[in-house]
Amino acid sequence: MATSRRDKADSYTQRAHREGYPARSVYKLEEIDQTHHLIRPGDTVLDVGAAPGSWTLYVHRELIKGRGKIVACDLNPLRLDPVPPTVVEITGDAFSRQIRERLVEEGPYQCIISDAAPMTTGNRTVDTSRSEYLAEQVVLLAQEQLAPHGNLVIKIFQGGGQEAVLKTMRGMFRKAKAFKPKACRDDSFEIYLIGLDRV
Ligand SMILES: C[S@@+](CC[C@H](N)C(=O)[O-])C[C@H]1O[C@@H](n2cnc3c(N)ncnc32)[C@H](O)[C@@H]1O
Repeated sequence: MATSRRDKADSYTQRAHREGYPARSVYKLEEIDQTHHLIRPGDTVLDVGAAPGSWTLYVHRELIKGRGKIVACDLNPLRLDPVPPTVVEITGDAFSRQIRERLVEEGPYQCIISDAAPMTTGNRTVDTSRSEYLAEQVVLLAQEQLAPHGNLVIKIFQGGGQEAVLKTMRGMFRKAKAFKPKACRDDSFEIYLIGLDRV
C-alpha cells in the first residue's frame, strides 16, 4: 500500500522525536549534506534562521563532530537543552546592521546554511516574495562573510525569483544548483539553492 503524504510527514516527525531533534527539518539537511558534503569537522558554520535548532544540533553532532563552531542566529531563541558547547547563539534579525556586525566578529565561515523562512500568510504571492527577499539577504551575507572555497545552502519558496538568486550564485561558486530533499513535504513549494566552492 502506498504511504500517504501525512504518514510520511509523521514518520519524519516521530524519528526526529526519537533522535532528540526539535524539528523534522533536520532530515532535509541530512540529505543535503550526504549528497553534497558541505561541512567538515573544524569548520566554522553560520546557521541563519536556526530556531528551534535541529540543523544546529545536527551540525554539532554529525558534521563538525564537536570540533569547530556553529553560530546560530534566529529571531527566536533555540529550543535546545543544553545548547551544545560548540554553539554561539545570537538572537535577532540576521540582516540588521547590529547583528551583522556580531556575525562578522564570529566569522569568516566555511559554510553558511539558511533554512530561514517568513511567517506564512497562506497567500502564495506574498509568501514567496518574502522568502525571495530573505534568500537575497542571505546571498549578501555570504558575499560579505563566506570564506574562499566555502559552501552555501539557502531555502527559498519557488515563485520564479529563485532563478535570479541562482544566477547570482553561479557567479559566486564553481557550482550552484537547486535541490529538493525527499524530506520536504510533498505539498511544500520550498526548495534549496546550493553553492559549492566559492571562487
Ligand atoms: C523553518 S524555521 C528553521 C528551522 C531550523 N532549521 C531547525 O532545523 O530547527 C525558519 C526560521 O527562520 C527564522 N527567521 C526568519 N527571518 C529571520 C531573520 N530575519 N533573522 C533570523 N531568523 C529569521 C524564523 O524565526 C524561524 O525560526
